[in-house]
Amino acid sequence: MEVIIPSDADRIATIAADAICTLLDRKPDAVLGLATGSSPLAIYTELARRHAAGEVSFARARAFTLDEYVGLPPEHPQRYANVIRDEFVDKVDFDPANVHGPDGLADDLAAAAIAYDRAIAAAGGVDLQILGVGTDGHIAFNEPSSSLGSRTRVKTLTRQTRIDNARFFDDDIDQVPQLCLTQGLGTIMEARHAILVATGAGKAEAVRQLVEGPVSALWPATILQHHPHVTVFLDDASAGTLTLAEYFRQTYDAKPAWQGI
Ligand code: GLP
Repeated sequence: MEVIIPSDADRIATIAADAICTLLDRKPDAVLGLATGSSPLAIYTELARRHAAGEVSFARARAFTLDEYVGLPPEHPQRYANVIRDEFVDKVDFDPANVHGPDGLADDLAAAAIAYDRAIAAAGGVDLQILGVGTDGHIAFNEPSSSLGSRTRVKTLTRQTRIDNARFFDDDIDQVPQLCLTQGLGTIMEARHAILVATGAGKAEAVRQLVEGPVSALWPATILQHHPHVTVFLDDASAGTLTLAEYFRQTYDAKPAWQGI
């Protein structure tokens, strides 16, 4: 696990976008794993800027989103399929037909979940997965106690996650769905490279567990300690309680640019 705490948090989007552009240079039809939430937004903005400047194309790229609410009507602005479309896909030259998400509107949700894992595998797997982390340590919607080997499936959201996400639903927790479809931890772990972004003091405990805690289903993001290629981007606030924060800063400062992430 590489932990990067840039002295200027604005650098997170630049470094992550560099990695995505390098991947697309090498493999124009790469499979990206896209996350919702506020954490990846600066990366999407930076990629859209580079696309507008003619520096990167997504015309042949493919994408799979992490998760989806169950029960929101098709046109609901908080359906993750719509969020990803509005915040990223429509701002670059992605072919919308190449952007896939779990079908939270399916009559048979269990079958939709199985079909989603198959579709990811049929595309050759995810090359680069963008991730955020919940305050309770969830990634995608794998809440505490999620099986560390889980596949895409129906999950029930914790009250904490519904409180956290109520800001997208008029601050009304009752509007936040209770069920979702989410890639499993085992599914996410198959991505070749995972980039996780966590900023702000509210994420400090989840980050402490993720980076320095024991691997435990109680803090699902800790499974990433077993991933062979994961990059964790933090700011000073989210890294505030890490024992090794200074080591991580020194290590990144000394890293040769040619190494990338
Ligand atoms: C939601 C999403 C997660 C995301 C998390 C954190 O629950 N399902 O994928 O990581 O929120 O969101 P934010 O980045 O806004 O803090």
